[in-house]
Amino acid sequence: MGSKTNEQLSKLRSKYFSSGVGCVSQKFIDSAEGAVAKDVEGRYYIDFAGGIGVMNIGHSHPKVVEAIKTQAGKMTHTCLMINPYEPAVTLAEKLCQITPGNFTKKVVLLNSGSEAVENAVKVARYYTKRPAVIVFENAYHGRTLLTMTMTSKSKAFKIGFGPFAPEVYRMPFGDVASANALNDFFLKHVPAESVAAVVVEPIQGEGGFIVPPPNYFQELSKICKDNGIVFVVDEIQSGMGRASKMFAIEHWNVEPDLITVGKSLAAGLPLSAVVGRAEMMDSVYPWGLGGTYGGNPVACAAAVAVIEAFESENMLGKSAILGEKLKSGFEQLQRDFDIVGEVRGLGAMLAFTLVNRADLTPNADATKQLVAYCHENGLLILSCGVYGNVIRAMPPFVITDEQLEKGFSILRQGLTMLSRQ
Ligand SMILES: Cc1ncc(COP(=O)(O)O)c(C=O)c1O
Repeated sequence: MGSKTNEQLSKLRSKYFSSGVGCVSQKFIDSAEGAVAKDVEGRYYIDFAGGIGVMNIGHSHPKVVEAIKTQAGKMTHTCLMINPYEPAVTLAEKLCQITPGNFTKKVVLLNSGSEAVENAVKVARYYTKRPAVIVFENAYHGRTLLTMTMTSKSKAFKIGFGPFAPEVYRMPFGDVASANALNDFFLKHVPAESVAAVVVEPIQGEGGFIVPPPNYFQELSKICKDNGIVFVVDEIQSGMGRASKMFAIEHWNVEPDLITVGKSLAAGLPLSAVVGRAEMMDSVYPWGLGGTYGGNPVACAAAVAVIEAFESENMLGKSAILGEKLKSGFEQLQRDFDIVGEVRGLGAMLAFTLVNRADLTPNADATKQLVAYCHENGLLILSCGVYGNVIRAMPPFVITDEQLEKGFSILRQGLTMLSRQ
């Protein structure tokens, strides 16, 4: 237990933190294990949020904790660009092995998802010698100037922060016709010869867990290939087993040129990567990519332990079983509550929408209330979606049936409360 209460910490938080840093809950977590977190007052919470998709293999996984302790005891920093170290090399090798693509790959290690996306764009621009980047409606790629520009949800993330980065163009997302519309786009807006990269999430995360149809990425990647455009897949939220394949794009059997990885890669330590075709990654001149902390040794040791846990503990199998349970649980909620609209997602990346009973339009207000109810009653859960009406679940794959059931029962109570309104 902590030395201060949630309320005391909340007051200090608002006194010292910029109000620009939003916060879903004022419960201050003191410790967490598996799929359960405990706050400073000793209250327990089932975790369906995973710190926004970061805890795929569970909080405080013993092998990760051990790897962190061992590496921290030996050395915490030299800078990968000054004196490199073994955990980074081991991780780079593993990343090349676990990412899709039957070709020689290379890696750059960074700190955050946004930084990985920025670097993927840098590589694509340098390799192609072209400026333009094509992104999609509902996309989320981060909060730095370039990635905020690439992000779609304008109201929550972009108001007042412009002017935005140039040469970023947006297309509709998610049906084969819109993939083919790219050819038209090249005629009417930007010639293909000016496009460095198409950057796309295989399953849109913040945008609302939107899954494109079976042929979508085949079409998109073919258009890229035909036009010499680098096909970049942003797997920061959907990767590391969340969609029950190591990377969600494997559901479409497509090999991206570059993949961005982050979030669950190092189980909470800040680490991200761009992994991709060697000839593209190697096109950049020495010192063109990097940073002081990118590929920190403690974070790399954690990531190596994460990938080993996938191999030794059948994390992908666990993710698939969890996905089935989430899907059938959400479908039951859909049958029982008329305010639950669509159930969607893939693998263990699952969500449902909340709608107004009368006309089935998105109900952002009910979504806010449900999230608040859950947090107050012992379930950490998050919303998403451009219309703010999607409840997403990203529990650790190691969640027990009992914990899952408890989470569902809190959701059910919350929906019952909303249905009475
Ligand atoms: C698909 C995707 N790309 C990029 C990012 C940005 O990652 P970070 O917040 O680590 O910068 C996120 C974060 O939610 C994401 O979901």
